[in-house]
Amino acid sequence: MSQRGRFITFEGTEGMGKSTQLAIAAASLRAAGINVLVTREPGGTPMAEAIRELLLAPRDEPVHELTELLLMFAARAQHLHTRILPALTAGQWVLCDRFTDATFAYQGGGRGTPAERIGLLETLVQGELRPDHIVLLDAPVETGMARARKRGELDRFEQETVEFFDRIRATYLQRARREPQRYHIVDAGQPLARVSADVKRLCQDIAIL
Ligand SMILES: Nc1ncnc2c1ncn2[C@@H]1O[C@H](COP(=O)(O)OP(=O)(O)OP(=O)(O)O)[C@@H](O)[C@H]1O
Ligand SMILES: [Mg+2]
Repeated sequence: MSQRGRFITFEGTEGMGKSTQLAIAAASLRAAGINVLVTREPGGTPMAEAIRELLLAPRDEPVHELTELLLMFAARAQHLHTRILPALTAGQWVLCDRFTDATFAYQGGGRGTPAERIGLLETLVQGELRPDHIVLLDAPVETGMARARKRGELDRFEQETVEFFDRIRATYLQRARREPQRYHIVDAGQPLARVSADVKRLCQDIAIL
């Protein structure tokens, strides 16, 4: 039986560079001989990807905060139990683009759903499982929004206000400061090469832990 793999998640507001840096981290860990699975939330399995589409599609109907929260965790249950956990158990490292910290930040900080309510679902769906490391890409929200805007059409979240994303950023930072051994804050406002160098260094540190 191989040793359980590490579970590393990438977090931050829109356009901070999560997907870019996750790819850099995956390449860096693979170069060190580590077997890496790259995935994302919401999504990561065909059914969870279908839930993602439901969540991101702009719509005229107001979406109740509980609907959004339950769909997030429905997608997560499917992804975690059918894909992430089997990989970790087989010794693979899992790099995931957003996870439950995003739910605390977006549905909690952003939408105002009480953290206790999110915590209940976290325990129901995940039991004791939490990411081993969380890479928080942090910079003023406008920096990321300007980057994301270049991509064209905005999804249901990207259409939100700067204030909404400021609350999300503040929630992420608050959570990161509470547990500095598990959260790694990276200055995402730097030029791409500098952010990538920080992330590679972080991967080296994590790999020898
Ligand atoms: N440090 C950087 N400086 C300038 N541009 C960057 C930097 N990092 C990423 N970018 C660019 O910004 C855009 C958004 O990056 P990326 O898609 O990795 O962000 P993301 O956090 O995954 O976004 P989303 O929240 O929309 O998934 C991309 O076009 C990427 O090339
Ligand atoms: Mg992305």
